[in-house]
Amino acid sequence: MAKRSIDAGTISNKSKALTRQQASEIQPFGHLVPRPIALGESVCTKSVENLNQILADTITLRDLYKKHHWQVAGPTFYQLHLLFDKHYDEQNELVDTIAERIRLLGGVSVAMAHDVAETTSIPRPPKGREEVPVQISRLLHAHEIILKEARTMARQATEAGDDGTNDLLVSDVIRGNELQVWFVAEHVVEMPLVQAV
Ligand SMILES: [Fe+2]
Repeated sequence: MAKRSIDAGTISNKSKALTRQQASEIQPFGHLVPRPIALGESVCTKSVENLNQILADTITLRDLYKKHHWQVAGPTFYQLHLLFDKHYDEQNELVDTIAERIRLLGGVSVAMAHDVAETTSIPRPPKGREEVPVQISRLLHAHEIILKEARTMARQATEAGDDGTNDLLVSDVIRGNELQVWFVAEHVVEMPLVQAV
C-alpha cells in the first residue's frame, strides 16, 4: 500500500501545543457529583462543606509554618527552623488527604490562595517578621481553631453515618494537630537554661 505523504506545514501544525484554551467549568464549586458510596446526597454535601472549611484552615496553618520557618530568629533559631518545616510537611500531607476526600465524596475542594483567604477562620498575620513567642502564639491559636471545629464536625459526620469523614477528622486532623500543639507549646514554657531556680 502506498504511504500517504504530508507536507511540512501540516506536520508543524500537528505538533504544535494548543495553548490558551478556554471552556466552561466541568463542575462548579459547591455542586456535588453523586458517587455510588452508599451515602445520601445531603450527607455528602454537609461533609464536603465541613471538609472545605478544615481544608482552608489547614492550608493556612501549613503556610503559617513555612512563613515562620523562613522568618524565625533568636537562640532557638535552628531547632525551630527545623521543627516548623517538619510540621509544614505534615500539614501539607493532611491538605492532600482532606482535598482528596472532598473529591471522593463528589465535591470540589478549595485550592487557590484567594479562595483559601476568603474561607479560612484563622486571622491573617502581618507580612513582616515577628518574635518567637508571637509566632508560637499564632500557631497555637490556629491549631486550636482547627481542633475545635474538627471535633464538632467529627461528631456531625458520625451522626450522619459518614464514618470515613469521621475517621479522617479524628485520626488525621485531631490527633495530628494535638501532637503538633504539644511540640510547639513546650517552647513557651519558662524554663532555666543554665542554672536551676
Ligand atoms: Fe527551608
